[in-house]
Amino acid sequence: MRPDVPQLLVGRDPSRIPELPGAQRRGPAEYADTGAMRTALTGASTLVLISGHPRGRRLEEHASAVEAGMAVGVERVLYVSLLGAAPTATYRNARDHWMTEQFLAGAGVRHTVFRAGFYASTPAALADDELVVSGPGGDGRAAFVTHDDIADVITAVALDEGPRSEHDRATLEVTGPEALTLAEMVARVATATGRPYRYVPETVEEAFARRWRLGVSGVQIESWISWYQAIASGELSAVTDVVPRITGSSATPVEQADWWPTPKTAW
Ligand SMILES: NC(=O)c1ccc[n+]([C@@H]2O[C@H](COP(=O)([O-])OP(=O)(O)OC[C@H]3O[C@@H](n4cnc5c(N)ncnc54)[C@H](OP(=O)(O)O)[C@@H]3O)[C@@H](O)[C@H]2O)c1
Repeated sequence: MRPDVPQLLVGRDPSRIPELPGAQRRGPAEYADTGAMRTALTGASTLVLISGHPRGRRLEEHASAVEAGMAVGVERVLYVSLLGAAPTATYRNARDHWMTEQFLAGAGVRHTVFRAGFYASTPAALADDELVVSGPGGDGRAAFVTHDDIADVITAVALDEGPRSEHDRATLEVTGPEALTLAEMVARVATATGRPYRYVPETVEEAFARRWRLGVSGVQIESWISWYQAIASGELSAVTDVVPRITGSSATPVEQADWWPTPKTAW
C-alpha cells in the first residue's frame, strides 16, 4: 500500500502488527467482538477483510466485523475469499467463504470479492520433515498465486476510490499465470529454494489412514485431504487475467515468490 494512503492495521495482538509508514496500529480487536471492532475501525472508509481461521464460526466472525465497520462509517468492504467458493466446493474451507459472499451481497454495503487461488506458499508448508508433499492430488492442476499478486490486486481496487467503482459487487478470481500439477508445483518449489522437495501422490484411503495415525481431528483431516481433492477435481485450474488487467503487470511465476514457509507449518 502507498505510504501516502492512511491505513489502520487491525489485529488481535497489536504487538504483532508491523509498523508501516503512514499506518496506525489498532486493536486488540477480534472479529467476533463487535464493540472492539467498532473502536478499531473508527475513521476507516474501506475495510479489507482477511478471512479468519476456519473454526466453524467464520460467517459469524466476518458478519460481526462488517457490521461493526458499517456502524462506524465504513463504506466499502474488500473481502478475500477463495477460488471455487461454493456450498458444494470440494475443498472444505471454500464452503463457508461462499456464505460470507452471500452475506455481503445482502448487507447493503459496497463490496468486492477477491477469490484467491491456492497460495504458492502452501505446498512448502504442507511438506514433511523429509520435504515430501503427499496427498490425493492426482494429475489435477491449480493456478497457484503469490501473496504479493493478491495484495497488488486488492491494493489497486482499494485505491480506486471514486463514488462508484467498476469493481463494486464484482467477484475477481485472482490466479497465477499457469495451472500446474502438484508434481510440477513442488518441483518449482525445489528449484526456487534449492532444496529437494518432492510430491508423492496418495490414494484417498492412504491419505486418510496416514493422517488418522497422526491423531488429528476429523475436521482437520477433511480440510487437509479435500485441499488435494480440489486440485484433483480441477476446481482451481482456471487461469484468469485479473492480475495483469488490474495491476498492469504479468502474474508472477510461482518460483519467483519471495517467501517460502518452513515444512509442517500447514499441518
Ligand atoms: N488461498 C489459499 O491458498 C490459502 C492458504 C492459506 C490460508 N488461507 C486463508 O487465508 C486466511 C488468512 O490465513 P493466514 O494464514 O494468512 O492467517 P493469519 O496470518 O493468521 O491472519 C491474517 C490476518 O487476519 C487477522 N485475523 C485472523 N483471524 C482474525 C480474527 N478472528 N479476528 C481478528 N483478526 C483476525 C490476523 O490478525 P492476528 O494478528 O490477530 O492473528 C492477521 O492479521 C484464512 O482464512 C485462511 O483460511 C488461504
